Amino acid sequence: MTSLLRIDHVSKAYGSTQALDDVSIDIRPNEFFALLGPSGCGKTTLLRSIAGFEDPDAGSITVTDASGGQTDLLVLPPNRRPVNLMFQSYALFPHMNVRRNVAYGLEREGLSKDEIAARVDEVLATVGLADRAKARPAQLSGGQRQRVALARAIVKRPRLLLLDEPLSALDRKVRAEMQLELKRLQHEVGITFVVVTHDQEEAMSMADRIAVMHHGRVQQIDDPVTLYSRPANVFVADFIGSGTLIPGIAEGAGLSALGRVLPCHAPAPVAGPAVVMLRPESTHLTSIDDASRLLDGTVVETHFYGGSTITSVRVSGLQPPVVVRTAGAPRHSVGEQVGISWAPADAVLLAADDGTLAADPGAAV
Ligand SMILES: Nc1ncnc2c1ncn2[C@@H]1O[C@H](COP(=O)(O)OP(=O)(O)OP(=O)(O)O)[C@@H](O)[C@H]1O
Ligand SMILES: [Mg+2]
Repeated sequence: MTSLLRIDHVSKAYGSTQALDDVSIDIRPNEFFALLGPSGCGKTTLLRSIAGFEDPDAGSITVTDASGGQTDLLVLPPNRRPVNLMFQSYALFPHMNVRRNVAYGLEREGLSKDEIAARVDEVLATVGLADRAKARPAQLSGGQRQRVALARAIVKRPRLLLLDEPLSALDRKVRAEMQLELKRLQHEVGITFVVVTHDQEEAMSMADRIAVMHHGRVQQIDDPVTLYSRPANVFVADFIGSGTLIPGIAEGAGLSALGRVLPCHAPAPVAGPAVVMLRPESTHLTSIDDASRLLDGTVVETHFYGGSTITSVRVSGLQPPVVVRTAGAPRHSVGEQVGISWAPADAVLLAADDGTLAADPGAAV
């Protein structure tokens, strides 16, 4: 498939900080693409490089234009690039009403009054703010202000819209609504979206594909399901979703750990120090004498989440407890001895990653 935006071996350092380290990503037309990673991993630097507010030290960024030709973005000033960046901390003009805020960018482009009015009306309807057009930013809720910022970015009809943490200012509930909204909007306006977030659930729920970044490097680019079920390394396994990581030594098609060989699946050949990743919903509890059990443990905690239960099981020799998700109410009590099992295909074997687990407990903020 031809890409719309090609980021090719891009690097950028600030003094001794390598903000981007040999980043290559192809973004497809009409894709909802997410850049995901912990604070400081280079997400904003990459967006700013695409938009033209940052000059990479090396690499190229090109866009495929309508005729199929390649345009080198790095030689163009920001205002000549077919992209629009919605900043991490967007600012609306407080003295202008919603309509003027949205129209501002078009007025500066010198479009006719009629065309501006038509386009602003259309965009305000799309983001559901037609009836708030005369309000000032101070009279809006956080979610509505975010919508104005979005409307302002969309109204210019860029081929590519770059959104830096577009929902970070919102509380949890509004945020969940806006995630769906953003997805619908992207579908409706037919613009390619690149959205930055450090929230893995947000990325998973919205994006067609996700690039996971860490220390300026791309760790994996895949669709959400593949990232979750087939992480490329321990960092991704730990950062995406929840689960249990058991360290040991790769041995044939298994992991030698806790005095036995645990059955698992190795997407890529692994030798030496390794980790097996178990997802909570693919890990099962059995009775303590069940012949199919792979580990024995003691229930230390149960949490009922309405539809499902998370049970934490302490296994001798293993630091964090094994987490198991089951449908319905808790079926085991704290202190109970249980067996643990899984299908080998659901347990992913990964090469151990020197220190990643200990060094990086996940996203800051
Ligand atoms: N102008 C700058 N001068 C010096 N260092 C910078 C500058 N901008 C960014 N950095 C550093 O580059 C690294 C990447 O920063 P960046 O803003 O891209 O991270 P981020 O992934 O967007 O993080 P966050 O999730 O916190 O927004 C960080 O270590 C940051 O401190
Ligand atoms: Mg940032």
